[in-house]
Amino acid sequence: MENFTLTQLYRHSKSLLEKNDIPDADFDSLCLMEHFFNADRSTLIIHGDRLADSELCRRFLIALNERISGRPLQYIIGKWNFMGLDFFVGEGVLIPRSDTEITAEKVIALAQKMKSPKIIDLCSGSGAIAVSVAKFVPDAQIVALELSEDAFVYLQKNIKFNSVKNVTPVLGDVTKNYSDFSDETFDIIVSNPPYIKTNQIDTLQPELAFEPRMALDGGDDGIFFYKIISKKWKSKLKIGGFIVYETGEDEHEPVKDDLIANGYSNISYLLDLQGFKRTTFANR
Ligand SMILES: C[S@@+](CC[C@H](N)C(=O)[O-])C[C@H]1O[C@@H](n2cnc3c(N)ncnc32)[C@H](O)[C@@H]1O
Repeated sequence: MENFTLTQLYRHSKSLLEKNDIPDADFDSLCLMEHFFNADRSTLIIHGDRLADSELCRRFLIALNERISGRPLQYIIGKWNFMGLDFFVGEGVLIPRSDTEITAEKVIALAQKMKSPKIIDLCSGSGAIAVSVAKFVPDAQIVALELSEDAFVYLQKNIKFNSVKNVTPVLGDVTKNYSDFSDETFDIIVSNPPYIKTNQIDTLQPELAFEPRMALDGGDDGIFFYKIISKKWKSKLKIGGFIVYETGEDEHEPVKDDLIANGYSNISYLLDLQGFKRTTFANR
């Protein structure tokens, strides 16, 4: 293979991604350059005329084709940042989203005011919420419950990679395994469950087709999991404990109504950057 300079590869990547209508072509190209060649924007400016290693170049071009086919950048790179921490990701696990940091930050703020809080992260996926809370609240004890065996492998790997000793991963079903826990165990229940309405999944961005359907499908009304959690897990929460949810764009109101119907109080929300009520929380 002919040798290319770093700048040539970056420009080739950007123009190819643009031609193929991949959004954020510049951002993705820079991430790929950093991943394969350890070349960030300033390296490109200062050392862009360096020749790229031919084997890395071959792998970079394969990755570029994968990106053009719609495979998410995060799966290609294999790791993604959440709350300043790195999480391994790949097919089978949901990519942690920056919107979810609002929910993680809320839980951290609540937990930091408690003494040795007990927390459960339901539908934990990569462990983005559980691991970040564990890192920022070292005296918390956190259970991370996840049903998908594929996602569970990432959950275990991310707990180990981030060196948190206070997260216990549990392979289990949120619709069933509540009976494994004693009443009034937890100070906080947090969940970012699947919340897309079944009939909307196929209408969303093509990248979502690469992510596991069971991480997305929230049933016909999108709020299937919130209804189960608010009802079946309530007794596992201490009196006065907090339930904290990430909610879909139009889901705060129905989730709130269901929380009221289940006897929760002080229901409130936090907005995301786009102005959607993204985090809903309440007290038992
Ligand atoms: C929207 S993802 C959230 C993942 C992670 N908490 C995050 O914020 O990035 C929902 C997760 O719920 C898991 N899940 C789906 N059904 C479940 C069930 N019945 N019990 C436990 N986890 C379930 C999926 O496998 C997926 O990992």
